[in-house]
Amino acid sequence: MLTFKQNIRGNVALGVNPLGCKQDVLNQIDYVKSNGTYEGPKKVLIIGASSSYGLATRINLAFGAGADTIGVSFEKGPKNERNLGTAGWYNNIAFREEAEKEDLIAKNFVQDAFSHETKQEVIEYIKNEFGGKVDLVVYSLASGVRKDPETGELYKSSIKAIGEPVVGPHINMQNESFYTETLEPADEQEIADTVNVMGGEDWQLWMEALKESGVLTEGVLTTNYSYLGTELNHAYYGGGTLGRAKADCDEKAENINQLLADINGKAQIVVATAVTTKASSVIPFFPVYCIGLYKVMEEKGTHETPIMHIDRIYRDMIYGDKPEYDEVGRLRPDSWELDSDTQAKTKELIEQLNAENFNSDMTAYDTFFKEFSNLSGFMVDNYVEQEVTLDELKALNY
Ligand code: NAI
Repeated sequence: MLTFKQNIRGNVALGVNPLGCKQDVLNQIDYVKSNGTYEGPKKVLIIGASSSYGLATRINLAFGAGADTIGVSFEKGPKNERNLGTAGWYNNIAFREEAEKEDLIAKNFVQDAFSHETKQEVIEYIKNEFGGKVDLVVYSLASGVRKDPETGELYKSSIKAIGEPVVGPHINMQNESFYTETLEPADEQEIADTVNVMGGEDWQLWMEALKESGVLTEGVLTTNYSYLGTELNHAYYGGGTLGRAKADCDEKAENINQLLADINGKAQIVVATAVTTKASSVIPFFPVYCIGLYKVMEEKGTHETPIMHIDRIYRDMIYGDKPEYDEVGRLRPDSWELDSDTQAKTKELIEQLNAENFNSDMTAYDTFFKEFSNLSGFMVDNYVEQEVTLDELKALNY
């Protein structure tokens, strides 16, 4: 029998509980179902579908709107008792099993989304086995590296400031410590490489390939999750390398809008709220912002996990009657985070934090840690310990 151990290095989760991942997917499905069904898209492609925002989107559209889905992700399966693979691997499997119980198509492509081959394989699948067209394409990829599809060159993204170094408080969840971190400014090459990896080029390449192959419906929508943040994180996010990458997505959205004009399609940047994900846990200083922000938002009743936020985005905003757009047409579900009283209280709280109190009742450290643990299948609500063998895990098919 396998034992599952939560293994954290810095703020990176290494261990996984496959059965906990399954329970977490079930919990998200229950959340969506408890809100009932809604009229939404029916044939959806999600690029970056196996965790956090992408997974929540897939769950929401399948179990809320009855959509068939194709999910593209990059995950690893179990090798041996010490290397059980990644959480997203098990999320994909749990999602497919549950969707198929409701007669929904749930096709997983576990391969590099940046490559031309993956795009062509997905297109062939849409043509031959998915009814020929998709009416929504969700781009929710987060990656530290991108292999250029033409040259094979590997680009790495850097999470860095631009111009001046940034000095501020950070936390380490491995040893539950609070310390001062210095984030160096990026050079021009690092900025360009981060835009290459996390900017909108690949999104545009996907949309061009899909359009050219005639697999997009009239009126197709494509969404891409962005983050703008506030003055509390501007120095290292909006004003840093990641901010440049997000600005590139805004530009590419305009290109895609032109590309889709003749089929009345639309590219929608969705400025999503700060949530606990694999990606956000490793952004320097960001967890400190989150433990302050979540505390304030919990007290106001506005704190959301990805599934809650995504449910509001698709059910109420995009396919509902309560969208909020900004002056350049981006959807702004992040308005709860940006609320001026929320931000003022968060600032006041963060300024009081130190090594003694950062993990006390003053903050939402416990919430952040639990949400972080949930991503790898630990501390999951309703989880009941069960026995499973390595061979049983290896036999699971995505
Ligand atoms: P995540 O790390 O939880 O998920 C990323 C997904 O991309 C996974 O499904 C992973 O398998 C997939 N992926 C990575 N490299 C791939 C590759 N080469 N080929 C195929 N799939 C690949 O990320 P998260 O945090 O959900 O981020 C998704 C988007 O949401 C990002 O654009 C992020 O900037 C944005 N966002 C995140 C916020 C946050 O607070 N975490 C806030 C607002 C926006």
